Amino acid sequence: MIRKATPADAQAIQKLIHLHGEKGQMLERDISDVLAHIGDFFVCEKNGEVLGSCALNYQWDRIVEIRSLAVDPAHFGQKVASRLIQAGVDEARSSDKETIFVLTYAVSLFHKFGFEIVEKSTLPGKVWNDCQGCPKEENCDEIAMARPLHPILQEALESPGEMADKKLEFEMQAHQSL
Ligand SMILES: CC(C)(COP(=O)(O)OP(=O)(O)OC[C@H]1O[C@@H](n2cnc3c(N)ncnc32)[C@H](O)[C@@H]1OP(=O)(O)O)[C@@H](O)C(=O)NCCC(=O)NCCS
Repeated sequence: MIRKATPADAQAIQKLIHLHGEKGQMLERDISDVLAHIGDFFVCEKNGEVLGSCALNYQWDRIVEIRSLAVDPAHFGQKVASRLIQAGVDEARSSDKETIFVLTYAVSLFHKFGFEIVEKSTLPGKVWNDCQGCPKEENCDEIAMARPLHPILQEALESPGEMADKKLEFEMQAHQSL
């Protein structure tokens, strides 16, 4: 079952993040950080055990980040990450954000969910605040990937020539739904 995390999940989430963080596969987060942002996390739970988790980070105006995606190695390959990513994208789509991005090594996994590689320089500078304290700060080799959250903008991305028409259509729909 995929559900929003509660404070009771914080220890299990932090353990998973640390398991992969200590191998340099993701940014470490301490227990106070996890607890402070527990409302941003999803967990995949089975029989009371947390098999994986991920979080959304809404701190920017128009974009949202999916981060801290960590799965228990005993359950790799069972679509735990896929279900967590889908839950994150679904929630983000119901927000007012336009784009979701991730910094990851798992490029083909995120590609399955419509994420495309983007230049890191297209992300707001504030994204890099989180990197302070990361041992790789100056030599970050994670790949930036992003996808639009609104289906019309997704279509427009796939047909750049129609971008202007699609944007107009989107704006008109948004106006009508006010
Ligand atoms: C990457 C990770 C989250 C994948 O978890 P998972 O539950 O095993 O993934 P899924 O079962 O949902 O995999 C779905 C697909 O993604 C692919 N995939 C899995 N891990 C991958 C990786 N590291 N890189 C690229 N593709 C990957 C799988 O091959 C699978 O493909 P298929 O649908 O064709 O069979 C997990 O290996 C993990 O926790 N790794 C360490 C931390 C990490 O790298 N997190 C991502 C940071 S954003």
